[in-house]
Amino acid sequence: MSKFVITIDGPAASGKGSLSQKISKELNFYYLETGIYYRGFADLFHKNEVNGSDLTSFISNLKIKYFEEYIKKNNKKLYSTKVTKLASKLAKKVEVRLFIVKIQQEIIMKLDKKFNGIILEGRDCGTVIAPEADLKFYLTSHLKVRAERRFKQFVQDKKDISYEKVLNDLRERDIQDKSRVHSPLQKPKNAVVIDNSNYKFEETINIVKNIIFSRIPTLKNKT
Ligand code: C5P
Repeated sequence: MSKFVITIDGPAASGKGSLSQKISKELNFYYLETGIYYRGFADLFHKNEVNGSDLTSFISNLKIKYFEEYIKKNNKKLYSTKVTKLASKLAKKVEVRLFIVKIQQEIIMKLDKKFNGIILEGRDCGTVIAPEADLKFYLTSHLKVRAERRFKQFVQDKKDISYEKVLNDLRERDIQDKSRVHSPLQKPKNAVVIDNSNYKFEETINIVKNIIFSRIPTLKNKT
């Protein structure tokens, strides 16, 4: 690999999205939010009223360019509770995973020279998409802490949802993501594990940045 590849895996609402976004910007890395592909797929699946038994032919007829454009255009609506639940359900299907992982691996291969590297964030980044990554993180925090953070975010966005519902949805998603047969969420081998339950966002950023600079010192000169 000529460019640096960093993976950040972890459960829903562990803060890995905001962290990856911030660090990518600071280090001039491309940020790949892998979950949005499962969300986009779920939304298209629903929109096209695909029957479970038609999944294989739906995938073989789905043009990658159209799929990627669809995700870009519909980005905002892909975070609804309905899409989130369906994404997690469809993410269990091996044919869906193979289709999406291939697209994501191509993104790494064709990375524009202007970037110092790429940060992949999701569930299977260090285990399946980029097992040879230069540096892997597993970011987590207690379920209740994650639920509180997500609930606060929803309140800010004026979304009408109770804390209990947020907690239960996250718990359910954790179970689905960790117990599925294909590419379950797990700590990748050699990953640096960070439990950020007691850290503020900025503290986690600094911890992760220090680890990146200590493991890949040449990056310091490039930022
Ligand atoms: O990361 P995000 O919460 O947007 O992902 C939505 C869902 O997509 C997850 O709950 C998970 O089931 C699935 N996903 C996955 N593998 C990834 C990223 C997301 O299975 N790499």
